[in-house]
Amino acid sequence: MNKFEILEQKKAEALLGGGEKRIAAQHKKGKLTARERINILLDEGSFEEIGMFVSHRCTDFGMGNEQYLGDGVVTGYGTIHGRLVYVFSQDFTVFGGSLSETHAEKICKIMDMAMENGAPVIGLNDSGGARIQEGVVSLGGYADIFYKNTRASGVIPQLSAIMGPCAGGAVYSPAITDFILMVEQSSYMFVTGPNVVKTVTHEEVTSEELGGAQTHASKSGVTHFACINEVDCINHIKKLLSYMPQNCEEDAPNYPYEMGDETRQKLNTLIPENPNMPYDMKEVIEQICDDNSFLEVHKEYAENIIVGFARVAGRSIGVVANQPASMAGVLDNNSSKKGARFVRFCDAFNIPLLTLVDVPGFLPGTDQEWNGIITNGAKLLYAFCEATVPKITLITRKAYGGAYDVMNSKHIGADLNFAFPNSEIAVMGAKGAVEIIFKKEIDAAENPQQKLDEKVADYAEKFANPYGAAARGFIDEVIIPDQARKKIIKGFTMLQNKVCNMPRKKHGNIPM
Ligand code: HXC
Repeated sequence: MNKFEILEQKKAEALLGGGEKRIAAQHKKGKLTARERINILLDEGSFEEIGMFVSHRCTDFGMGNEQYLGDGVVTGYGTIHGRLVYVFSQDFTVFGGSLSETHAEKICKIMDMAMENGAPVIGLNDSGGARIQEGVVSLGGYADIFYKNTRASGVIPQLSAIMGPCAGGAVYSPAITDFILMVEQSSYMFVTGPNVVKTVTHEEVTSEELGGAQTHASKSGVTHFACINEVDCINHIKKLLSYMPQNCEEDAPNYPYEMGDETRQKLNTLIPENPNMPYDMKEVIEQICDDNSFLEVHKEYAENIIVGFARVAGRSIGVVANQPASMAGVLDNNSSKKGARFVRFCDAFNIPLLTLVDVPGFLPGTDQEWNGIITNGAKLLYAFCEATVPKITLITRKAYGGAYDVMNSKHIGADLNFAFPNSEIAVMGAKGAVEIIFKKEIDAAENPQQKLDEKVADYAEKFANPYGAAARGFIDEVIIPDQARKKIIKGFTMLQNKVCNMPRKKHGNIPM
């Protein structure tokens, strides 16, 4: 064999990973290989591999004789829709994708390059965890990755797809990244697996129940997306990236858009007259944003708040909205955490924020208080206060109590605040308010019910409208609903060069 042929042979060996038998086993489980995933993810022919011949250095347990070129992870760079990204894809056919010292070094190398060149990192995770034969060296490798994930946080977008096992401390790299996507039925994430759980707590639970995609999408909120299969997962990654800039110094790409008649008649009838009737805020979002542009994040978790990316006139925005169709749109522990994390991502990456408000307040109760609604509500409040991106708020109906302040009110830095004419902006609903302030008068009345009704009507007339807030400039404009899209497009265009600096500090101390 000449030298070129030797090279070709080595390449062919590397491409086979753990060998044909293990590739067949991977396929039998309904999973793609590390390289197949990269091929679907990146623009055709754009992938350039780095470190194809890297091999592990372990000699214990007969490992010296078991070498696979690449050592269980394929790393490199390429493009998605023509934009540079770095990628690592764990190869389950090599020692179960487990993380060795060299495997970790490969991941760290592309993370360093991504930081230096200002482009997102995508991790396709499919791994049995720490390479058991290597011991502490592998743990060190994980820690090196966690450290780099943290350094990169807020500098470049980091996306983690979980396409197989991800257990033990290995979960903490995805957890630090910006978005997690899991594949239903074939991926799971947990700190300790079902066997340990059974020993310690005597609970009997399957891997799927404990840490499958549905569990983390709806119960824990660990994953932002539960995807029906691997291709769906990869498509979600591509779509998600389309709303983001390459790094914190840039803006997200603008899509071409020709302004037309931006009136949306449907908005005039979407919101029920009766303030206690639910409606689906997603329909409002659809009317306001460009057609089919809304990508919901954390869809199945804390459904009383909606978060997601969208475009208005081709410009990327983040949407945060109360959802009256779920728990009347109340703010609670989970919705506060969900909203806060999303707001912080948008702010870190210069994505303007649109907040749609229909909120009856914070959810009362021991469950909420004992689980820290004070700290968690403060997270959302802090996140909005801290965000310096262009911020527009539209009150579609109710804005009561502390939740009015929290939901990106004028007072905490919104640039433009709109309200529909039916909006109610008050400390609380009319009945609750009257029962407190006129308690004695109502109790003493000949007909307490009649008195209560009179007082409720008075209070509602005074406060159940947006004009008190507009008189003080807390609301910039009361608008007819069908004009909302037009006003929001114009507002974000006006705000596109906004500069707002935070006071000099090392970093803030968000209530964690
Ligand atoms: C080395 C491993 C491995 C590991 C799997 N393999 N996990 N090799 N280190 N951690 C190898 C297997 O020996 C096997 O090799 C091949 O990968 C496929 O594994 P199977 O068990 O045949 O596959 P499957 O039945 O699909 O089960 C997958 C699995 C299981 C559930 C992931 O392999 C497993 O439980 N592995 C151990 C998981 C674990 O305890 N990891 C350490 C967690 S602690 P052959 O040669 O047969 O193909 C941890 C700490 C991180 O990760 C801390 C960071 C701070």
